[in-house]
Amino acid sequence: MANNDEDMLVTPWEVRGKIDYDRLIKQFGTQRITPDLKARINKITKDRHIMLERDYFFSHRDLDWILDEYEKKNKFVLYTGRGPSGHTHIGHLPTWMFTKWMQDKFDTRLYFQMTNDEKYFFDTHLSLDDVRRFTYENTLDLLALGFEPENTYIIDDIEHIDLLYELAVQVARKVTFSTVKAVFGFNSSTNIGSNWHPAIQAVPAFLHSWIYGKKTPCIIPCAIDQDPFWRVTRDVAERLGYYKPASIQNKFVPGLKEGGKMSASDPMSTVFTTDSPKMAKKKVMAAFTGGRATVKEQRELGANPDICSVFKYYKYIFMPDDKDLKDIEQKCRGGEILCGECKQILAPMMMEFLENHQAAREDVKDRVEEFSAARLRDEVRR
Ligand code: TRP
Repeated sequence: MANNDEDMLVTPWEVRGKIDYDRLIKQFGTQRITPDLKARINKITKDRHIMLERDYFFSHRDLDWILDEYEKKNKFVLYTGRGPSGHTHIGHLPTWMFTKWMQDKFDTRLYFQMTNDEKYFFDTHLSLDDVRRFTYENTLDLLALGFEPENTYIIDDIEHIDLLYELAVQVARKVTFSTVKAVFGFNSSTNIGSNWHPAIQAVPAFLHSWIYGKKTPCIIPCAIDQDPFWRVTRDVAERLGYYKPASIQNKFVPGLKEGGKMSASDPMSTVFTTDSPKMAKKKVMAAFTGGRATVKEQRELGANPDICSVFKYYKYIFMPDDKDLKDIEQKCRGGEILCGECKQILAPMMMEFLENHQAAREDVKDRVEEFSAARLRDEVRR
């Protein structure tokens, strides 16, 4: 999905430049999450979530339909995933946290796909051992957020291909090379594994329906860069006898450096869940902010939280209380607080979060198998 407009580039494998989310909605043809839609979710869940309130989740496909069906007692399943190409960083967690919230509130099943095959195809520096190791490591991060095995099924693409293959071949027969060229920018030098991957990533959207022989709505919480996959998936869905998957799409958590999203390829811009709290603090203290060139200017003119990476962490993760957020925003804009001081507030929050998260990772180490989608083998009806 390359585009030539200025320098913004958003594809499932690369996100670059200054992201204009309004333009992405237009380009991808998704819908904005309106205040009405948020109110509807709040009413059904009898709760609110800051990631929705504060437009971290900002775009969707067919979310209104998912709620219609839910209210008609036609319950949906959740589907999300992770390409295990390295350690998880903090920027991956919000989508999963919100997924957990939806799972709790709507009391529904989650299919979580580990696309270790995708990462093996697309990043040729990675060995099979690497992607297997990161599948395990990333699974710990997911489970550390408190998922329960009763309604959580982790699909390991390589390990569980027998569960996916029958659906994947049906998808693959309906997707042409011209489609994946146009949608993903593939060309003749793209390896054939990459060309095939969109079929595999479509499968979990239909898996529940296929296993239980009952057409079941599915909604995919994900970052908006994954939308090209869902366009392909939606395009074939009805012809295969399934519902088009809906999606609810989030922005990127910015790296601690300027612009773009948090990316594992720039380690100082990225807090990994496996970083020592001390290292995380160092990264926070080196973060990009919306500050002025001099203290004097900042005191007089104030700083700009809209472009500040530190502020985004408060907004989407660490400051659920609207009053706290407003307070720091005002101090920032009014020049009352300097960026160094502000980072000193984020650093201990980040460190505490990591300490707890790392302890939770330890606790789930023996439980990984309980969540395996291998359990579904017994349920498949043929
Ligand atoms: N392609 C995604 C990645 O590289 C992984 C993934 C598979 C995914 N299925 C998904 C992400 C569904 C979100 C929703 O990270």
